[in-house]
Amino acid sequence: MVGLSHVALREVMREYLPADAFTIWPTEMLNSRRIPNENLETTPETMRAAYEPGLVPQILGNDEEAIALSVKRLVEWGAEAIDINMGCPVQKALKHNYGVALMGDPDYAAEVVRITVKNSTVPVSVKLRAVGSSKEFDELLKFVTGLRNSGASWICLHPRTAAQKRRGWADWEQIRQLHQAVDFPVIGNGDVQTVEDALAMLQDTGCDMAMAGRGLAARPWMMWQLGEELGMAPPKGREGQKAPRTPLEEGAEYGRCLIKLIQLSRQYFGENLAMRKVRFYVRTTGVWLDFGNALYGVSTKAKTTQEMEEMVLKFFEAPNEMCARTELRQ
Ligand SMILES: Cc1cc2nc3c(=O)[nH]c(=O)nc-3n(C[C@H](O)[C@H](O)[C@H](O)COP(=O)(O)O)c2cc1C
Repeated sequence: MVGLSHVALREVMREYLPADAFTIWPTEMLNSRRIPNENLETTPETMRAAYEPGLVPQILGNDEEAIALSVKRLVEWGAEAIDINMGCPVQKALKHNYGVALMGDPDYAAEVVRITVKNSTVPVSVKLRAVGSSKEFDELLKFVTGLRNSGASWICLHPRTAAQKRRGWADWEQIRQLHQAVDFPVIGNGDVQTVEDALAMLQDTGCDMAMAGRGLAARPWMMWQLGEELGMAPPKGREGQKAPRTPLEEGAEYGRCLIKLIQLSRQYFGENLAMRKVRFYVRTTGVWLDFGNALYGVSTKAKTTQEMEEMVLKFFEAPNEMCARTELRQ
């Protein structure tokens, strides 16, 4: 996720992964026209920690040369798979005919997968959106079949249309239909805000994995809660403890995550970028907090990360409740 799935937040989140669990870690969306000339070690979007299993960079692109060079570099960098973005609805992506624009051109979308697979030594996946309502499912299935025939190893479906962007209801029925219709893994995405939602998505749709975006960024311990529900061990270093569950426990944990995020962001990105990244995090995830707006105010008022850390610590001296679900607007 642009602005969110960077090394600092991944590091905060990884501490909540049950000790015996494995998951995949997408990067921010990376433009394949830029990757060939970037220093991947120092570019904020591709910085990585020394030990980061399961990294799956996501690329945006439609041009063979750029894709081939990007994939080669990303595999050397440590990619365990390459994901192709076919869901980004912003104008810039549409103008360049990538992102969700590819969904309007099934043959070319399949060609992009073929090019990527041809140049990759690791699996290639695609993240895409709904074409329309579940009535238009045949069209979606045809599109996905084209990707599969070109060598995609799995699909992640976010069943909102491009027009919906990230608002409104994600139509899980389409995840269920897709999973039932194809013989390769389908990851479901959209509206997973709580561990109950994650379990419901897995059960109701039968999908192979559930992917949570905003909700998981806000409450990374959802992975720990899910681990508890599935009988997994607690995260490393949390032996004998229980995952936060009540609104107050979750609010306090959010505060601890935020402090860690400030510290790690400073370490990885330096003062200025760290401030911007943390503010963006609070703006996107604070919607689950009772006093999220006030916290965002705190993050914008602070002039240094040190000051931000002190102000956030003070803010969380008072009890803060986190709600289970909220209307997702951004
Ligand atoms: C700030 C932000 C950045 C995002 N960036 C990306 C991205 O780079 N690539 C992508 O495939 N989806 C991106 N998304 C969409 C999410 O991956 C996800 O599909 C969407 O938010 C729905 O899932 P959710 O309801 O669990 O958040 C982004 C979403 C947000 C809120």
